[in-house]
Amino acid sequence: MEKTQAPCWLHIASISDFDSSRRLVREVEGRSILLLQLGKAIIALYNVCTHLGQPLDRGRVVAGQLICPFHGACFDLRTGAALSGPAVAPLLLFPVKLENTEVLIDVGTLPASIIRKSSNC
Ligand code: FES
Repeated sequence: MEKTQAPCWLHIASISDFDSSRRLVREVEGRSILLLQLGKAIIALYNVCTHLGQPLDRGRVVAGQLICPFHGACFDLRTGAALSGPAVAPLLLFPVKLENTEVLIDVGTLPASIIRKSSNC
């Protein structure tokens, strides 16, 4: 897959957008992005399970792992690695940075086929 080169930081949410569920779903260029608040960290991932492409936003989060609600694949939220099947490919994670209370994700280092750079990058 073609990869883009330069970082491209996009504002995607504010910390105040998170409610008690500690999760948000946002759309970026028609792609669904799942944001999870784990303590003070924010994890951003492409909201698509690598098994059969189902959304992950209703998955359970347990001890830093995300469990797909469809067939139970388990992913490490730190690395994206598939820890148990049926999925074998890792999740696509976005680099995240916080600027005060604002959450930004870098879409510039992911495969261009997933999210293209916006015009302001
Ligand atoms: S779609 Fe996620 S484990 Fe099957």
